[in-house]
Amino acid sequence: MNNLIELKKLNKSYGQGDTAYHVLHDIDLEVKMGELTAIIGESGSGKSTLINIIGFLDTDFSGEYLFKEQPIQDLKAKDLAFLRNQDVGFVFQNFKLIRGLSVYANVALPLLYAGKKRNEIESAILAALKKVGLAGYEKALPQNMSGGQQQRVAIARAIVSHPSFLIADEPTGALDSQNSRDIMELFKKLNAEGTTILMVTHDPRIAKACKRTIEILDGRIIADSKGRVAK
Ligand SMILES: Nc1ncnc2c1ncn2[C@@H]1O[C@H](COP(=O)(O)OP(=O)(O)O)[C@@H](O)[C@H]1O
Ligand SMILES: [Mg+2]
Repeated sequence: MNNLIELKKLNKSYGQGDTAYHVLHDIDLEVKMGELTAIIGESGSGKSTLINIIGFLDTDFSGEYLFKEQPIQDLKAKDLAFLRNQDVGFVFQNFKLIRGLSVYANVALPLLYAGKKRNEIESAILAALKKVGLAGYEKALPQNMSGGQQQRVAIARAIVSHPSFLIADEPTGALDSQNSRDIMELFKKLNAEGTTILMVTHDPRIAKACKRTIEILDGRIIADSKGRVAK
């Protein structure tokens, strides 16, 4: 099968000249459709920097990034914005939901950004909420929900437009162990249904539940369990 994501000798520095800080060093990485991959490593090792590049949030790097075999460096800003909206769903440690908006309105956002009409999107929103176990919570406000529920809303928002892959940066970092396990079960279910997932985690139990683990140290990939079967 072809690669969904391929990085070749990718390097990334913050800043320029004497004060430049070289964060990622010669990253070579291939991710295929259907993977469930954990990225682990010490704080400050470059994990968020790497997945922000993979999620098209940061295009200031050298080396090559092929997405579906196309170099993304060749894309215009508007095509990149399209990729960001259509091809990737983001899940963050602190959920990043909009407080004043209902669950329904939060999940609607990617579809509205994509230019879909309000009356066309209801079925997609209800299906995404059902998938994450929150059918019936449309009118709830995120600030009145538990952390685990808020993360489910964020996951519904991430999957509502059926992106090619999900990126999750420490998705269980703000949750207790029971909620962390539940969220991991949800990611496993979504993966079993075909969603490709890349997840940064500090939690060894979460990493163990993934099919593949990549370890980063000081901006270099130092281990990759490619092919290891999930327990
Ligand atoms: N916008 C930025 N400007 C300058 N340095 C940054 C920026 N973002 C992150 N860094 C630095 O890059 C290194 C890697 O950060 P990050 O990718 O956030 O690591 P991780 O997610 O593994 O904790 C850290 O030393 C961090 O301080
Ligand atoms: Mg980070």
